[in-house]
Amino acid sequence: MGNEENINKELPACGKTGVSTVNGQVVTINDNTCRELIREAINMLNYSYTPYSNFKVGAALLGADNKIYTGCNVENAAYTPTNCAERTAFFKAVSTGVKDFAAIAIVGGRDGKLESYCSPCGVCRQVMMEFCDPDTFYVILAKSEEDYWVYSLSEIMPMGFSPKDLK
Ligand code: THU
Repeated sequence: MGNEENINKELPACGKTGVSTVNGQVVTINDNTCRELIREAINMLNYSYTPYSNFKVGAALLGADNKIYTGCNVENAAYTPTNCAERTAFFKAVSTGVKDFAAIAIVGGRDGKLESYCSPCGVCRQVMMEFCDPDTFYVILAKSEEDYWVYSLSEIMPMGFSPKDLK
């Protein structure tokens, strides 16, 4: 690929641990939380349905209820109906009544090989804006359980549009 070094260099420095307060509920995001989410996200690569791109993505979303909602990308012959792993995880959770979230781990790569960090697409960031506090929702980009970076949603979605803007 040749551009992996560039991608990694563009990632700004960030913290690795923190506390996310969701609707008054405190959810701790520490190294153990991150590793567990990453493990679940990596497991989702097994279910990723990618006959067209073969770019496999897995996600694990931590709810304020401390439960993990997983997702993978699901492609389609008509291309546009494709659903990203992150949105699969969000829609699974929201469709069971969960609407408060603390963090999401994302892994992905061609043939399921985690050679670089998989950053969420703009549409998925917008879905995150719908349900998450951009200052305290953590986005974990990982290559392995040991190799990961953590960002707040506001860092990766500056000046984002959210339900607050409609009030
Ligand atoms: N994809 C995701 O699932 N999440 C992302 O953050 C980036 C892209 C998927 C969509 C498509 O199935 C494949 O990766 C290639 O774009």
